[in-house]
Amino acid sequence: TARFEVTVAESEAEHAALGAEILARAIDAAVRARGSAKVALSGGSTPGPVYRRLAQMALPLDRIDWFWVDERAGDPTSPRSNFRAARADLGLDRADVAARVHRMEAEDPDLAAAAARYEALLRRTFGVASAVAFDVMTLGIGDDGHTASLFPAAGATAIDDRLVAAIGAQPAKGLEARLTLTAPVLCEARTVLVLARGAAKQRPIASAWSEGPEEEVPARVLLRARGQVVWLVDRDAYPTG
Ligand code: 6PG
Repeated sequence: TARFEVTVAESEAEHAALGAEILARAIDAAVRARGSAKVALSGGSTPGPVYRRLAQMALPLDRIDWFWVDERAGDPTSPRSNFRAARADLGLDRADVAARVHRMEAEDPDLAAAAARYEALLRRTFGVASAVAFDVMTLGIGDDGHTASLFPAAGATAIDDRLVAAIGAQPAKGLEARLTLTAPVLCEARTVLVLARGAAKQRPIASAWSEGPEEEVPARVLLRARGQVVWLVDRDAYPTG
């Protein structure tokens, strides 16, 4: 069962500072224990300040491999690209780290093929017969309870035969197709940092913390995480009563 921790930040600045500190500590511990750190990054709007704060810290960039939790179908230069946003926020657009920045190729019209390529990359990186256990992973939670690109009622949380999945577009929600790490990979991470701010997150967070069908509230998959799960929220997002 998961080790859940909840930290409440009193401001956006504090949220960013605490998030960056947790990431930096996990990176440091991984480098000391295993010689390198493997980090998986989520998109969305919440991580931006955390990533920008992390970029100001002294990081062992020659020891960190950066991966993505999910990506939106389209070009990596698109403003919708999670890769583009995180790379800019983290300052990873430098030649000397390029070989350690591993984006999902969601511009491929054959998203299933792109998912299979990313899966192969993960297998090679972690060792083909080893667990794909990220040292640290950031996640968010959507108003509808989704995390990564595991959306409600799409059968996505039940995928257990792949590391990376292609998720179809949801025109009704105005969402493009996605590539995403699957629940087993989320649950294998040593540290999961869930970032949430704002009152709209209160309800989905309360649901994610209570048992129930995962397909209704996909963030519930974290209830079966093997590592440490840190929920870093602000006052508004913290579920009361
Ligand atoms: C994405 C994300 C997604 C995100 C949540 C929360 O590509 O959109 O990875 O899972 O974490 O939607 O997003 P916000 O931080 O914008 O609320």
